[in-house]
Amino acid sequence: MAPSRTHAGNVGLLDLPRVIAIHRDTARRARLLQRPDLTYLFWEATLRCNLRCRHCGSSCEGKSPVHELETSEIKAILDTIGQDFNAKRIFVSITGGEPLLRKDLFEVVAHMTGLGMRSCIVTNGTLLGVDQAQRLWDAGMRTICVSIDGLEAEHDAVRGKGSWQKAMAGISAARQVGFKRVEAITCVRPCHLDHLPEIERAVREAGAPLWRLITIDKMGRGAEDDALWMGGAHLRTLFDFIEKRRGEIVKNREKADVRFSCGGFLGVGRELRVRPGDGQCFAGLCVGSILCDGQVSACPSLPRSMAQGSARERRFSRIWKEEFRQHRDLQWRRSGPCSDCSWFQVCLGGGLHERLVQPEAFCWLDRQDGHADTVAPGAAAESHP
Ligand SMILES: C[S@@+](CC[C@H](N)C(=O)[O-])C[C@H]1O[C@@H](n2cnc3c(N)ncnc32)[C@H](O)[C@@H]1O
Ligand code: SF4
Ligand code: SF4
Repeated sequence: MAPSRTHAGNVGLLDLPRVIAIHRDTARRARLLQRPDLTYLFWEATLRCNLRCRHCGSSCEGKSPVHELETSEIKAILDTIGQDFNAKRIFVSITGGEPLLRKDLFEVVAHMTGLGMRSCIVTNGTLLGVDQAQRLWDAGMRTICVSIDGLEAEHDAVRGKGSWQKAMAGISAARQVGFKRVEAITCVRPCHLDHLPEIERAVREAGAPLWRLITIDKMGRGAEDDALWMGGAHLRTLFDFIEKRRGEIVKNREKADVRFSCGGFLGVGRELRVRPGDGQCFAGLCVGSILCDGQVSACPSLPRSMAQGSARERRFSRIWKEEFRQHRDLQWRRSGPCSDCSWFQVCLGGGLHERLVQPEAFCWLDRQDGHADTVAPGAAAESHP
């Protein structure tokens, strides 16, 4: 029998404005299912990394397992995107691996800026000195996101000794050269829950006004360790904290932001209290990716088997327009726990990467209710339609 989904799903009269706002977001997703509109592009710059984090969903290490795009190749792909889409509407998030390992990063960022695109990097921060930050600024970048996985001991436990100090120095370097949009990203684990306020204080003191909290998916090395997984009670504690802080930030007019990351529907009781609207999954609707070997995907967190073709061989815009059928088809998502769910019209069957990488634990209502607390570590099979 399907579990009943109660937590975060109950709706009262006071929730009416939230319900209306959520339905407005749903209508936008429904329109994008019919007419996809690329506005958010990930570039997975490399799969190489100078760290080897315990939770890394991409299982990155020193060497890349694939033949990565040369400078001229990524610039040529970006040129076609500039020709075929409105580049001024496109925000590029540069991720990896560790993007700062690419010597041509500054040149490629300047190329994006020249085309009219805005960009950010997501970095482990250990290689982000004042010089690198200045070069990113000069290349036209205005947002930097640095991963801070807790206080020093917790961060170093997954990212390696000394990495917290360097990442914090990276945030300061970004501020020093003038970046205002500096975001700390924390992959929250159960061990963080007792001192979320201290973590926030640390990232604020380092200079990050924005703080994004995410949870670890069962992908790559992140699938190997059950202690990283957030169960129902953990999630409720985390969301209570985020709700409280977002309320205080508005009330006290703090120049800061705390938000939960994007993904599947969290329930009306949570959805707009822990993140702004449009927090649900837009993979393949307005979000696309260029993977480090030129494969075109929706989001770099999806299994690589969901890539839709190579931009080395076909124009990116053709792949975007002619492929991505599974991403834009809801039929297969009406299966399993979603087949009889009253929230389907709002949720559309969960966040795509969560649905594919952890099929036993993708529903956030079930997760908050604790129905997914006993997920086997091996659940991260590459299953897809
Ligand atoms: C893959 S990393 C690449 C950028 C850079 N190397 C870094 O660590 O910030 C991008 C973000 O994904 C997060 N991440 C890594 N493994 C994850 C997993 N299994 N589940 C959820 N997020 C994960 C990282 O903590 C980081 O914030
Ligand atoms: S999470 Fe980032 S820093 Fe850590 S191994 Fe993966 S790519 Fe490298
Ligand atoms: S993921 Fe599926 S079961 Fe869960 S709320 Fe969404 S539609 Fe319902």
